[in-house]
Amino acid sequence: MTKENMPQRILSGVQPTGKLHLGNYFGAVRQHIALQSEGNCFYFIANYHALTTIQNAQTLQENTRDVALDYLALGLDPERSVFFRQSDVPEVTELAWILGTVTNMGLLERAVSYKEKVDKGFEASIGLFTYPMLMAADILIYRSKVVPVGKDQVQHLEMTQDMAGKFNRAFGSIFPLPNFRLDKESKVPGTDGQKMSKSYGNTIEIFAEGKPLEKTVMGIKTDSTPLGQALDPDKCNVFTLYGLFATDEEKAALAADYRGGKIGYGQAKKLLKTKIDQHFAPARAMRKKLAQDPNLV
Ligand code: TRP
Repeated sequence: MTKENMPQRILSGVQPTGKLHLGNYFGAVRQHIALQSEGNCFYFIANYHALTTIQNAQTLQENTRDVALDYLALGLDPERSVFFRQSDVPEVTELAWILGTVTNMGLLERAVSYKEKVDKGFEASIGLFTYPMLMAADILIYRSKVVPVGKDQVQHLEMTQDMAGKFNRAFGSIFPLPNFRLDKESKVPGTDGQKMSKSYGNTIEIFAEGKPLEKTVMGIKTDSTPLGQALDPDKCNVFTLYGLFATDEEKAALAADYRGGKIGYGQAKKLLKTKIDQHFAPARAMRKKLAQDPNLV
């Protein structure tokens, strides 16, 4: 433990929606792991939230186990952090109901993420609509002070503050108002150049390796500048991704090779794949080890 005598309580949830990719890693997971040295971390797998979009029991179970393995392999330390399934604490859903009684319809109707999901074709269920209520319960029940999230979750945090305020005015000062902490914004382009996201189908998975990983990396979209001509690193997805793993010196060296026409995209992709492999080698080995013992996780 570090810092002051009273470590702050840090909490975040992760939805078990599928294989972790580089966007998840640089956007959230990496910070979650690092924050373990800054406070008392509570991390949970938001399986009730996932139920708003995944309704196949087996898929949800597998995904839940997968995320648990992924986090443990990437450095979540159960000796230092509390790591659990959302559904393991039924009081959360009880509190969600109580919060519903102090939550205005208008507040929920303003939720951007609800509208986006409905636009994408998800059923406009009550569960999806009241998603922020359950999320507020997740946060408040543990009296969390700091909630590390990505930009897309900020509105939910503001709603949580609103609900906490109303709850406190109705029932007495029970919940401290939580603050969000924005993850350092990293630009992580997907294989097609758009933001890496499962819903765009452009992800590079952390725990893919060998041929499948090679196929994905070699498929990253680039322009068609012929070999031997100068390339612009600032406009290249391969270079941006490489930069997430490389030191400043390595980045400068590759940028010089790009500009000098000394390297082609194919070769740059190979360098990127090597970086990915090196970076995740320990986590991959650890994941295989953990996965062997079905009772451990
Ligand atoms: N809504 C979050 C996401 O999709 C997951 C989540 C659920 C969460 N409950 C939470 C995040 C509580 C932080 C705190 O990413």
